[in-house]
Amino acid sequence: MKIGISGASGKLGKAVLNELATRVPEHKVIAISRTPEAVEGASETRLGDYDRPGTLATAYAGLDRLLIIPTSDLRPGRRGEQNLAAIDAAVAAGVGHIVFMSMAGTREELEPAIGASYWAGEQRLIATAPRWTILRMNYYAESLVQEAQMSFGLGLLTGLAENRVAFVSRDDVAAAAAGILAGDDHAGAIYDATGPASISGAERAAMIAEASGKPMGFAVIADEQLRGGLAQAGLPIDVINAVSSIQAGFAAGGMNIVTGDVERLSGRAPRPLQEILAAAF
Ligand SMILES: NC(=O)c1ccc[n+]([C@@H]2O[C@H](COP(=O)([O-])OP(=O)(O)OC[C@H]3O[C@@H](n4cnc5c(N)ncnc54)[C@H](OP(=O)(O)O)[C@@H]3O)[C@@H](O)[C@H]2O)c1
Repeated sequence: MKIGISGASGKLGKAVLNELATRVPEHKVIAISRTPEAVEGASETRLGDYDRPGTLATAYAGLDRLLIIPTSDLRPGRRGEQNLAAIDAAVAAGVGHIVFMSMAGTREELEPAIGASYWAGEQRLIATAPRWTILRMNYYAESLVQEAQMSFGLGLLTGLAENRVAFVSRDDVAAAAAGILAGDDHAGAIYDATGPASISGAERAAMIAEASGKPMGFAVIADEQLRGGLAQAGLPIDVINAVSSIQAGFAAGGMNIVTGDVERLSGRAPRPLQEILAAAF
């Protein structure tokens, strides 16, 4: 079987490649991105640029299964267009089963909301692909580690409301994706890759304080305060919009979901946040 990974040179893509190498070494894995030469360990590498759909026809030719990993492109509308281009190219190329990486809490939203591109992709996939699976990921625990590192100065994490998030490690998301690609019973399913518990703002601040030995609290602030602080730190408007949109999603409960899908798909339980924080600090 030929399994393609589109977005293979990124952190999630490389982790999926590693998982597939262990799980199904007998299958051919094709690494696809704009810089496929940067990927090690694939059976084959191909150029495939979501912004140049012509390249995707060749990149996806002859694949039995394909994982589409969206980019981190924050320009309004770009990622949505990329997702549609990738799905259309995969369907046109006759890929047998298309797996799309999406985000927890995905629902109908308009740009520049961070979820708009995932909604657009999910809907196109469901409407056009002969066999499809969606894997919605919760917020990466690794992204919380980065947020904590940037917050030690003030000793404060912030949110637009007290909220719960089921932080999941990127490697566990990758293992779940590999389980779908290597398995046979996942057509037509929408899965949620989550950590084992949904953690409140106060709880995650306390966990970070314990793991790092540094003070950390959690405070609810207004969106204008959040945006003002990010602007003061010199961040570009697309990043400010993305952070604000992610925090609005947290406040609305979009990431407050715990499932057994990581274990069901990968065969191993997801790592608890405490363990990931203890290893990070
Ligand atoms: N759940 C969370 O908390 C969270 C946090 C951060 C990101 N994410 C999402 O998770 C996904 C992957 O994350 P990641 O950490 O693996 O991101 P990453 O390391 O930035 O990888 C992105 C991948 O997309 C490829 N790419 C970028 N532009 C492309 C284009 N025009 N055409 C084709 N490929 C392109 C990159 O490869 P080349 O440059 O070689 O093309 C790379 O392989 C993204 O959807 C991202 O938004 C989720």
